[in-house]
Amino acid sequence: MFSQDEVDCALSLLDETFADPEQPDPYRFVVAADVEDAALVLGYACFGTTPLTHGTCDLYWIAVDPALHGGGIGRVLFDEVARVLRADGQHQLVIETSSRADYEPTRAFYLRVGCVEEARVRDFYSRGDDKVFYVRRLATS
Ligand SMILES: CC(C)(COP(=O)(O)OP(=O)(O)OC[C@H]1O[C@@H](n2cnc3c(N)ncnc32)[C@H](O)[C@@H]1OP(=O)(O)O)[C@@H](O)C(=O)NCCC(=O)NCCS
Repeated sequence: MFSQDEVDCALSLLDETFADPEQPDPYRFVVAADVEDAALVLGYACFGTTPLTHGTCDLYWIAVDPALHGGGIGRVLFDEVARVLRADGQHQLVIETSSRADYEPTRAFYLRVGCVEEARVRDFYSRGDDKVFYVRRLATS
């Protein structure tokens, strides 16, 4: 699913965060692990506050072991991100993804977990490959 550049980018966020865990406003991670082997990562999500906003956050990455897709782990991760941010007083989570056909399951996932498609930038990633913005509102009332 991900290109090598995307994998490198995702890993660099981990490296950057754990190299300096005390930094202000770091990237944050939620990890799904095997009940019997906590070192066995089944999926994870990376998120953080959006600079220069008040209450808006970004979901940078969410990924589940392909062998476990459709098993509910993605929803658990997403709901936990939403719970943590809501508890922090944040009001919305923004997600950017691709309009490519191979991202159709991902877009379906975002809709199922309560996101709405908010905007598109046509031909953003390349011609014919739009950037699609989803938003999940976090306010309870
Ligand atoms: C997107 C992803 C994280 C979803 O995780 P998952 O564990 O497969 O999702 P879940 O099983 O928790 O599904 C949650 C909901 O989304 C729906 N959904 C999941 N995959 C779907 C698909 N392929 N088509 C339609 N709906 C889908 C499920 O039906 C479920 O809805 P329900 O609970 O109302 O029945 C996972 O498929 C993945 O890692 N994809 C590749 C990486 C990626 O695209 N990441 C996002 C870009 S950064």
